[in-house]
Amino acid sequence: MDADVATRLGLFLDDLKEAIGARATAAGPLVSAYRRVFSSLADSRGEVSGAEPVRQPACVHLDDCYDGLEGAEVQVIKLARSFRAIEPALRWETHIDRRSAASLADRYADASIVGPSGLQRSRAVEIGVSVMAPETIYPDHRHPPEEVYIALSPGQWRQNDGPWNTPGVGGLIYNPGNIVHAMRSGGRPFLAIWCLPLS
Ligand SMILES: [Fe+2]
Repeated sequence: MDADVATRLGLFLDDLKEAIGARATAAGPLVSAYRRVFSSLADSRGEVSGAEPVRQPACVHLDDCYDGLEGAEVQVIKLARSFRAIEPALRWETHIDRRSAASLADRYADASIVGPSGLQRSRAVEIGVSVMAPETIYPDHRHPPEEVYIALSPGQWRQNDGPWNTPGVGGLIYNPGNIVHAMRSGGRPFLAIWCLPLS
């Protein structure tokens, strides 16, 4: 990765830390997960990937997501701006088998920004981004690490059979490890950044 991308990635990670930190104020599992992510990250900065960028069909919705941030809080706008500066370097994937879910493969994409296969390599942290077309549901799934999201668009999250939660632009979501969860978009496309401590 060239030095310019590394610099932009560093700015993005600083803005992500600031935006989540400003909202993660009440002591609890979200705050401790956030602290573990960013303390591990401070130890692992510097190893970067030279992999070729890849885009997916759902990336066409990114511009609508950026346009939808007008009027959002300053930290959220700053985070979206620094994300936009690294987005062309990302390897977007669908992780979806086109034979079994062709429509979702065209409507959903995500990219690892920091992680074992991320733009910046790390075994201790996974930080990534998901984009979805309007009126799309990403179905129930689970994974061992806990997870913190910051929403950069309207969108809804659900745990188990609970109600859909609407955090709003800039809102945070915390998923405990191994909990079954899903997310969906409404009339607007969906954009969110997620962080998982891996150790
Ligand atoms: Fe998840």
